[in-house]
Amino acid sequence: MTPLLLDGKVASAALLDFLKPMVETLDPKLVVIQVGDDPASSSYIKQKVKSCEKVSMRSDHIHMPEDTTIDTLMQKIDELNNDADVTGFFVQLPLPDQLRGHEPEIIKAISPMKDVDGFGAYNLGKMFLSKEFEHLPPATPSGIIRLLEHFDIEIAGKHAVVIGRSNTVGKPVAIMLLNRNATVTVCHSKTSNLADIVRQADIIIAAVGQPKMITADMVKDGAVVVDVGIHRTDEGLCGDTDFDALLSKVSAISPVPGGVGPMTVASLIRNCVTAKERQMALR
Ligand code: GUN
Repeated sequence: MTPLLLDGKVASAALLDFLKPMVETLDPKLVVIQVGDDPASSSYIKQKVKSCEKVSMRSDHIHMPEDTTIDTLMQKIDELNNDADVTGFFVQLPLPDQLRGHEPEIIKAISPMKDVDGFGAYNLGKMFLSKEFEHLPPATPSGIIRLLEHFDIEIAGKHAVVIGRSNTVGKPVAIMLLNRNATVTVCHSKTSNLADIVRQADIIIAAVGQPKMITADMVKDGAVVVDVGIHRTDEGLCGDTDFDALLSKVSAISPVPGGVGPMTVASLIRNCVTAKERQMALR
């Protein structure tokens, strides 16, 4: 049987359609800070700005030079924290070498009210409490959940195996799945018997960062697969899973590109709407 394609273009378009009237009423503004010229970052930022345009949301792209110092970046963050017209902002990662060690302090400096990336301790902590407290959840995990929900994939009672334990995807998506009553296993580079564990999964979230690492022999018949990876190879773009080989085994799978990527961007816009609602309620 042909598996269901978890098409992120379709699901994100539905989410953006839902958000558009709210954007019109609330008029939020997103600011993206880019330091340096990482080509992947430039491309992600372009997609984010384009999606803002789709829903007629205001956005600003602040492009700082490669050799920006931590003091200059912190000043900019302070300025945006105090600018009442800015609803939300984030610093695109990865950062140039001289700033990389400062990532925790950079994330900490962003006001929790404006942390639309949801990377700060306050918003991560709220997400930890329960589904009802997920106020500004990290955009990629939130997009993954929305993708599953859009296609009516049952989460409660399922065994979800998350491969990858990053602070931005693996750990938070594991918590969000747990908040929705999945039984969750988190695997990582030191996991022994990875294939045996993945073979038990009803839902596989592949966020390893290695091209086509999840092969057909690691997947049980009828599993649902969400592929978070994106890699440029000689044969074109691919994800963390061997998509073509998995097609004959799975019941649903997200493509790369066009799966999780568009959902991340739409979730970021959703966070801008949520942030603006909260800011107006407190004013
Ligand atoms: N780099 C890749 N994805 C992201 C993201 O969602 N947020 C930030 N700040 N940087 C990223």
